[in-house]
Formats: sequence, structure tokens, C-alpha cells
Amino acid sequence: MADNNAVRPVDLRSDTVTRPTAGMRAAMAEAEVGDDVYGEDPTVNALEAEVAALFGHEAALFAPTGSMANQIALQVLVPPGNELLCDADAHVVTYEVGAAAAYGGISSRTWPAVGADLDPDLIASMVRPDGYHAVPTRAIAVEQTHNRGGGGVIPLATLGELRRTADQAGLGLHCDGARIWHAHVADGVPLASYGELFDTMSVCLSKGLGAPAGSLVIGSAEKIARARVVRKRMGGGMRQVGVLAAAGRYALRHHVDRLVEDHDRAARLAEALAPFGVLAGPVRTNIVPLDLTKCGFDAPTLGAAAREKGVLVSVLGPRTARLVTHHDLDDAGVERAVEVLTGIFRG
Ligand SMILES: Cc1ncc(COP(=O)(O)O)c(C=O)c1O
Repeated sequence: MADNNAVRPVDLRSDTVTRPTAGMRAAMAEAEVGDDVYGEDPTVNALEAEVAALFGHEAALFAPTGSMANQIALQVLVPPGNELLCDADAHVVTYEVGAAAAYGGISSRTWPAVGADLDPDLIASMVRPDGYHAVPTRAIAVEQTHNRGGGGVIPLATLGELRRTADQAGLGLHCDGARIWHAHVADGVPLASYGELFDTMSVCLSKGLGAPAGSLVIGSAEKIARARVVRKRMGGGMRQVGVLAAAGRYALRHHVDRLVEDHDRAARLAEALAPFGVLAGPVRTNIVPLDLTKCGFDAPTLGAAAREKGVLVSVLGPRTARLVTHHDLDDAGVERAVEVLTGIFRG
């Protein structure tokens, strides 16, 4: 599978495009399974215990997707008719198709999109208490790393300030940690140090970690018991899903430390593209955000030209695009992408 780059396009659209490795497939084939709605899948139970322990929490709950894991957590933290604060570019309000409102009756209010560059004072000033006519704020959500924020990493100190705000106002603090693993590797912050700051977290096995599916909600035993009910209500109770949990357990053992390779490859792409003035910001992890306003291309034109030459990029808007590195991309793929993209920018 490793040298499929020769025949497949170099796919830089997302880190969700990875295919399970031979080792991961073997782990899936060998997984012991049971009915997880009855709590009887030993591999799911082991994964949940392992992930809870990694983040220093009491419990975790396996969910089919990161979106469902986020939405379960938000429903646990915010009752209907109450408010969530988050970034205007947050996945929970951008790419989850209005689920917080549609399923949770949650009102969302956003601070201006700033990626990982949060202003804790601004966020604190947005909190609304209970009161006549007001929508009371119940939770704050952040994203680590920040997807639309170009893979930016929120510093631990900033998260600590948000924790203090949440404590003072009696709010829940949620982390969309689909790529928390990348933050952990980039900043060297232990996963448990992130864990102790949040009431709930969602973490994904199917992004940088390369599993075919699966995310977890993490929290106290009491919150995860409520999360289990919400998951069932949303249709996320799965049965012999230990085959997927086995892929996740394999990924936790084999695919976390290697993320540094994805970060290095993203840095290589950024270094090659920097002279063309197309980088939207610094590259900290596995996402290279592109801003094409200063070059002669719009993003769809770039996307089509690159695709023709066997390189897939993600077009996010008229002038914005991104490149994402991942487990199925090797150095040869990166060099091929550099050759194609620099050729296009040179014109
Ligand atoms: C930051 C973030 N959160 C959540 C998700 C949702 O994951 P899923 O596609 O598994 O629903 C994604 C997906 O890319 C993401 O980037």
C-alpha cells in the first residue's frame, strides 16, 4: 500500500482519506466483539477505558463520527434554549449542518474567526448570565487543532484562562479535539494536561490517526452516562463495532508519534510555496492553509489545474484552499506535489 502514490493521485484534500494499513486490518480481523449497545463489546470497552485514561478522565464513549461525538457532548453541556459560545469558523457551527440547533435546541453565538489565536478576555465578555429575555450561556467550545484555522495550536496557557472563565461563570468547556494528537505532538503537551482543562472532549481516530472510522466523547462518569443516552437517541448505538475499535486501538499504539512526519511534510510544502506569497499563515501541524488573494489564481482554478496533474487540493472558498498531510502520503508524494504546485504558481 505504501507506494500507491505512483498510481494514485497525491491526495492533499484531507487527512480523512487514509486507508487502513495491513497491520490495522489484521487487528480489525482479530478483534473480539460483542453487542456494544448492551455494553458487551470487549474491544470497545477496552478502547473507551484506554482513551479515558490517556486524558485523565473517568470515562469515554465510542461514537461513529467526530461530528456525532461533538454534538453528543454539546447536548450534555447545553440544555435546549441555552447557549454555546464558539469560534465563527468552528467545525461545530460550520460543518455539522446545524446539528446543535436541529437536534439539541442549542443557540450558538460566535466570536470572530481567529483560528487558534483566541482572546480569552473577549470570550469572557461574551458570557451571558441567566436573566429575563437573555439566552444564558452554558458552555464554550474550542477546537484543537483548529481545522479552518490552518491547523493552529491553542497554547495551553490560553486554554487555562478559558478554564478560569468557565469556572467563574459556571460553564462547561468542550474541546473539539479531532486533531488533539497533532497539538500534543507539536507542542509536547501531555494529553492528560489537555484533559484536565475540559469538561468534555471529542477526539477522532479517523483523521491523522488513520483509522477508517470512530471518535470518542470523554468526560466524567456522570456525563458519559448521559452521553450514552444521547448517542442512542441520535441513532449512534452500534453493535459488533469492536472491529472499528480495534483499528482505533492499533492507531493509538502505532500512529501518534509518527504525526511528526506529517508535520515535517507540511512544513516542506510550506517552505516550497512561501516564495509565491500564497501561505495564509504559519504552518504548525499537518495543514497548509493557502490564501490566493495575492496571486493570479482563484482557488477553483488552482484545484482544477492541480487535479489535471494528479494532485488533489481542497478548495475552501473563491480564494482559499488547503493542503493536508497524512499517513498515506510519503516524501515522494510531497515532492510530486511541490513540483506540480510550484509549476502552476510559476505560470
Ligand atoms: C475539527 C473537526 N472536528 C470534527 C470533525 C468531524 O469529524 P467527522 O467527519 O468524523 O464527523 C472534523 C472533520 O474533519 C474536524 O476537522
